Amino acid sequence: MSTEKEFRHELSEVLQSASKAITRVSAQDIEIYSKIFQDIGFAQIPSIIDVDALAVVYRYIFDIASKHFVEFERPERPDLDRQLAGFRLKRAYLEPSSECHISGINDQSWKSLRDQLKQTAIQLTEILQPIINDIAGCYAYQSASIFLYTEGYYAGLHNDAGMGNRLNVQLPLSINTVGGIRILDNERLRMFYDMPGCLNILGPRIWHDIPPILRMPNGDKPLRMNMTLRYML
Ligand SMILES: [Fe+2]
Repeated sequence: MSTEKEFRHELSEVLQSASKAITRVSAQDIEIYSKIFQDIGFAQIPSIIDVDALAVVYRYIFDIASKHFVEFERPERPDLDRQLAGFRLKRAYLEPSSECHISGINDQSWKSLRDQLKQTAIQLTEILQPIINDIAGCYAYQSASIFLYTEGYYAGLHNDAGMGNRLNVQLPLSINTVGGIRILDNERLRMFYDMPGCLNILGPRIWHDIPPILRMPNGDKPLRMNMTLRYML
C-alpha cells in the first residue's frame, strides 16, 4: 500500500501530466472532439492523465476510504422501463450537500483526504478549462465526486435528465477489468473503453450506461473508479 507521501506526490503528478498533455492537444484535435461532442454528446480524449499516477491515487483512496463510500442501488424493473434503469455503485461526494451523501463525516483522516481531493479537483478544472470550453461550451464547475464499481456493479441505461444542463468531466480507470461507458449513438450503444489516462466529457441528457464490472480470467478483484467533475451551464 502506498504511503500518504507517495499519494500526495502522485496527486501532483496527475495535475502536472494534465497541464503538459493539454498543450499537446492541437486545434485540429479540438475540431474532431467538438464534432463528436456535437454529434453524440460525448467525447473521449486519450492520454490526458498519467495513468500510473492515477492508479496509485485511486488505489490509495480505495484502501483508505472505500468504507466511506456510500452505496446506491436501485433494482431493475420487471418491464425494463428505460426511465427507471437499475444500478449498483458506490460514490463519495467531495463536497457533500446532504446527509445521505456522506458516511464517516466525522472521520478526520477521511475529511483531510477529501479536502485534498477537492483541492485537486478545483486545480484540475482550472487546467482543463480551455479544452472543456472549446469542446463543450461555457460550463461552470460545481462539485466533484468519485464513483467506485466493484465486481458486478453497474449503471443501467439512463440520461440524468433530472440533473438539467449538467456536464460531467470524468477520469475513469479500470483495474483488473476491461471497463468503460456506452453512449447511445443512432439508437445503438457505442462502447468507449477506459483508455489509459483518458478524459471523458459527457453532455447533458445523453443516454449512457456502465456495463457490469467483470472479473478477468486471472481472478484478481476487478475495480473501476472514476473521478467526476460536475459542471452546470
Ligand atoms: Fe449517469
